[in-house]
Amino acid sequence: MKKVKVKLPQELIYPHPYILKSKIIEIDEGIKDGDEVLIINEKNKIIGTGFYNSSSYKTLRIHTYREFKELTYEEIKKRIEKAFLNRLLYFDRNESFRVVFSESDFLTGLIIDKFSDGFVFQINSLGMERKRDLIVKSLKELFNPLFIYEKSDGTGRKEEELPEFKKLHFGNLKNPYLIFTEGLYFLIDIEEGQKTGFFLDQKINRLKLGKYAKGKICLDLFSYTGGFTLHFLKEEAERVFVVEISEKAISLLKENIRINNFPEKKVKIIEGDVFEKIYEIENWKIKFDLIVNDPPSFTHKKRKKENALRAYKELHSKIFDILNKGGICATFSCTQAVGINDLIENLTGVQKNKEFLIHIKDFLFQSPCHPVSLYFPESFYLKGLVLLKE
Ligand SMILES: C[S@@+](CC[C@H](N)C(=O)[O-])C[C@H]1O[C@@H](n2cnc3c(N)ncnc32)[C@H](O)[C@@H]1O
Repeated sequence: MKKVKVKLPQELIYPHPYILKSKIIEIDEGIKDGDEVLIINEKNKIIGTGFYNSSSYKTLRIHTYREFKELTYEEIKKRIEKAFLNRLLYFDRNESFRVVFSESDFLTGLIIDKFSDGFVFQINSLGMERKRDLIVKSLKELFNPLFIYEKSDGTGRKEEELPEFKKLHFGNLKNPYLIFTEGLYFLIDIEEGQKTGFFLDQKINRLKLGKYAKGKICLDLFSYTGGFTLHFLKEEAERVFVVEISEKAISLLKENIRINNFPEKKVKIIEGDVFEKIYEIENWKIKFDLIVNDPPSFTHKKRKKENALRAYKELHSKIFDILNKGGICATFSCTQAVGINDLIENLTGVQKNKEFLIHIKDFLFQSPCHPVSLYFPESFYLKGLVLLKE
């Protein structure tokens, strides 16, 4: 077994799973990128086992703490099965949910989403890339799935100098693929859609916000294929206005409305940039009772946080102008760089110049199929506030 010696600022049992190149003080001869190595500290104490990749700033990625353990077929299968069973605390086994959430499930650089009987996985680390066949074999063995599709096109791959890779490894995939989840049909574009095709992290929040929609005039900003819109329609919203920039997402949204038999005339779809369209909407003099603001992560980088906060301020200010008094707004941040306190401060700033009060009614987080691990703070990324304009 090959060793890498590192110097960490503190002697922790569970240090952060990414160890930067600058922390490496000794490395055994012959270690190649993608190898699994034993990681020890200056005092020769074992930190754990991880993947080595000299091309990535995440030069070491720990997958096992306190011992040397390679990710063999048996080990990968065991970890996937454990992650799956953990999800059954919250979800029925036939549902669609995230089965593996990378570091939170001790499988660094691996995401597995289950859509009904089909599985979509994404590899984001060079070490995990070497385990591809074992991942496919484990999924076949554990779940006897309808299909296994790999959609390895995440931004994390660039950091590891990995090219985009997409492949149907097993079974038949009819794309777009139809799922039934939270009482609604959704067509998801697994091959070309965003992420693995569907944002499973908002599963629970869509149900929660749907509860405010009955008889209301709603606005779904950054709608993607209509996750929130469909729930508003299911709960008998009077009208739903939708803004989304992606043409492909909009065409699936239209299909999703049709296959659920919702009246088309209840929905007004506005294709374009929210930052422009929100000014047009303001000119229409319509006021909304329920607004969802679920933008993409404006930045992943702490140093670009100011830009992201400026974007939020502009959005929040406009949203509250077009929201009825007594109306509800749910606003989300899906980047770790903008935390829940940042959202609150941002709204406090917005309210200062307005003649109304904003109350926080509820706090929303990522669905429990995206568990948060305290040794890996980045795993806590999606948070939202339900706000009342008074
Ligand atoms: C986090 S996703 C929203 C997910 C959605 N709420 C759901 O429940 O599935 C963000 C969406 O914003 C869209 N988007 C990104 N920038 C945009 C912009 N400037 N104006 C409008 N839509 C935008 C993306 O295409 C993507 O569909």
